[in-house]
Amino acid sequence: MFITVEGGEGVGKSTNIDYLQDYLRSRGVDLLLTREPGGTGLAEQIRELLVARREEGVDPLAELLLVFAARAQHLAKVIEPALAAGQWVLCDRFTDATYAYQAGGRGLSADLVRRLEVLVQGELRPDFTLLFDAPVEVGMERARERGSLDRFEEEEIAFFERVRQTYLRLARESSGRFRVIDAAQPLEAVREQLHSVCGELFDCWGVRH
Ligand SMILES: Nc1ncnc2c1ncn2[C@@H]1O[C@H](COP(=O)(O)OP(=O)(O)O)[C@@H](O)[C@H]1O
Ligand SMILES: [Mg+2]
Repeated sequence: MFITVEGGEGVGKSTNIDYLQDYLRSRGVDLLLTREPGGTGLAEQIRELLVARREEGVDPLAELLLVFAARAQHLAKVIEPALAAGQWVLCDRFTDATYAYQAGGRGLSADLVRRLEVLVQGELRPDFTLLFDAPVEVGMERARERGSLDRFEEEEIAFFERVRQTYLRLARESSGRFRVIDAAQPLEAVREQLHSVCGELFDCWGVRH
C-alpha cells in the first residue's frame, strides 16, 4: 500500500505522520516512512535547492522539473523497491502537492504536471491520501511558531489560498482515494479522526485491528 499525506504549511502533517507510523507499526504493518521532495541523498539535496531563499527568482518550470527530478530518484531508489518487497510506504507529500503548489500556487497548467506525472510515474499512484486541511492563517501561524520560514513558507496568503483550494478540489475529484482531516482542531481531535480513518483502511485492506 502506498499512502500519502498532504496539506499546506504547518497544518500538522509531520506531527501526525509520526503518530500514524507508530500506530500502523503497532498493528504489524511493515512500513517505510519517507517524504518529498527528498527521501534519498540526491533528492534531499534537490529539496535544499528548492526551499533555499535566494535573490535570483526561481522560474516555475525550473521548480517543477526539480520537483519531478527528485521524485524520479525517490521512486527508483526507495518507493518502488519498498513496494516491490511488500512494504507499505507512507510518504509526507507526493504529486498532489505538485498540482497544489506548482499548478494551483504558481499557475502552471495542470496538464503540464499530468504529462510529467505520466512520464515519471507511469501508472503508479497513491492507494490512499490523507489531506490535512485547515484555514491558511491557522497553518501559517503554526509554521511561524515552528521557526524561520523557507522560500515556500514566505509566500503571500493568496498563494496558500490557491494551494488549499486546489487540494480540496483534488479531494473532491478523487473522493475514493482521499480522506480529508479537519486539521484546525486540537491534536487530540485530529488523532481521533486518524483512528477512524485507519479503522476504515484496515477493514478495507484486511488488516486485523
Ligand atoms: N492540531 C494541532 N493543534 C495545535 N498545534 C499543532 C497541531 N498540529 C500540529 N501543531 C503544531 O504546529 C506546528 C507545525 O506542525 P507540522 O507537523 O510541522 O506541520 P507540517 O508538517 O504540516 O508543516 C508544530 O509546531 C506542531 O507541533
Ligand atoms: Mg512537515
